Amino acid sequence: MELIVAKNYFDMSRKAANIISAQMILKPDSVLGLATGSTPVGIYDQLVEWYQKGDLDFSRITTVNLDEYRGLSPENEQSYHYFMMQHLFSRVNLPAEKHFLPDGMNPDSDAECRRYKGIIDSLGGTDLQLLGLGHNGHIGFNEPSDSFARDVHLVSLTEQTIEANKRFFASADDVPRQAYTMGVGTILQAKKILLAVSGAEKAKALQQVMSGPICPQVPGSVLQLHPDVIIVADEAASALI
Ligand code: F6R
Repeated sequence: MELIVAKNYFDMSRKAANIISAQMILKPDSVLGLATGSTPVGIYDQLVEWYQKGDLDFSRITTVNLDEYRGLSPENEQSYHYFMMQHLFSRVNLPAEKHFLPDGMNPDSDAECRRYKGIIDSLGGTDLQLLGLGHNGHIGFNEPSDSFARDVHLVSLTEQTIEANKRFFASADDVPRQAYTMGVGTILQAKKILLAVSGAEKAKALQQVMSGPICPQVPGSVLQLHPDVIIVADEAASALI
């Protein structure tokens, strides 16, 4: 694991965007694994700025997102689909048929897991997977548990995650209780992983991810097993390293 320490959120965003941009320039038909949440917003803004300047081209890129809430449609402003449209997809020349997320509205969750895994497999996995880190060490929606889930699966969100995510909803009661997520096996299949972390409240989780035991109670610790992980963390998040 390689740690790059950034001064602050803005610097973290630029450094992480530089790594994604390098990937896109070196391999213009890259498959990018993408994340939602507060962390990547600055990264997407930076990529959009470089696209607008003519430095980046998304026309041959394909994207697959880590996760999506079950029960939310793409039109729902709280869905991850909507988030991605707002922050990236509608702002760059990524063809509509080349971005993928789990379908939160599929009534058959087993079929949806199979369908989404099939898409990722047919693309040959991701070239670069962008990840954020939960306060509890989760990656995607792989929550602390007694075992690792390998493939795309449906999860019940922990109270801690519902609490952390309620800022995007009218109240905690409105946060969906279930979500689809890539499993840790899917995430580890990425050729390269970029973990972006910002803020003092993530410092403990980042310490556990980097130097704690590899265990499903800290799902991000599994990244220690991957041969090519770059962590871009701001000074606050890396304070305990
Ligand atoms: C989002 C995702 C989550 C977030 C994590 C951190 O697609 O998979 O694992 O990356 O919850 O969220 P923020 O960035 O909002 O602190």
